[in-house]
Amino acid sequence: MSVHAEQKSWTVPMLADARAAGRKLVMLTCYDASLARVLDDAGIELILIGDSLGMVVQGRDSTLPVTVDDIAYHVACVARGARRALKIADFPFGSDATPEQAHAAAVRFIQSGAAMVKLEGAGHKLETIRFLAQREIPVCAHLGLTPQSVLRMGGFKVQGREQSAAERLRADALAVAEAGAALLVLEGVPANLAADITAASPIPTVGIGAGAGCDGQVLVLHDMLGIDTGHRKPKFVKDFLAEGGSIAGAVRAYAEAVRSGAFPDETHSYS
Ligand code: KIV
Repeated sequence: MSVHAEQKSWTVPMLADARAAGRKLVMLTCYDASLARVLDDAGIELILIGDSLGMVVQGRDSTLPVTVDDIAYHVACVARGARRALKIADFPFGSDATPEQAHAAAVRFIQSGAAMVKLEGAGHKLETIRFLAQREIPVCAHLGLTPQSVLRMGGFKVQGREQSAAERLRADALAVAEAGAALLVLEGVPANLAADITAASPIPTVGIGAGAGCDGQVLVLHDMLGIDTGHRKPKFVKDFLAEGGSIAGAVRAYAEAVRSGAFPDETHSYS
């Protein structure tokens, strides 16, 4: 990768280049233009306009009520503030139920300023990943603790602890890459399992509650800033505001900790 990568806009091929160069990918969620500018100025590579906005912006109990209109609106806001970071739009619940529905939503997100779309799960979603990838829409897969599965899982629970579940996760990780995903978010899985999946994965992985062995890390911005959103903070959350001294300082401290491998440590990981 060019030594000037810091000044360039991040593109999808640069993610694989970063992995090959051993450079950790730093991702944060963001939902508005002003904070997107702060993240961009701090050199954050990836901004996720996540459906977590339902819980941290809209004050809901889960991500399930978030709509395509909500995500498209916040993608457009973020795109006005961040020029350099690669912007990833999250499919809200139900919007990726069929490849055709997902394609219609993805076109809106791309036209609003996203460069990639993220969807939760494998199984029937593999067809959707393939459908989108074949139509020039870069896809980020999301496996492990997938918050849109909260009703089936009966809560937000660490995934992959039993051997059969771990085997399924390993197989799903290979399947989403084979279907055409270019990036994989691993959420809420034991650190050893996430490290094994990363080693076997042909595409870069980004962890959240998945230990330090992933190719990058993501946190919800409000959690990283220690904001009380009214929800229980999971073990993997760290408040960087205290050490950073300001919002911009916290974002820089987080990025530095991810790049150096200092975050997440064992206290912020599952075994
Ligand atoms: O919506 C979101 O913020 C996410 C992250 C937790 C990965 O999906």
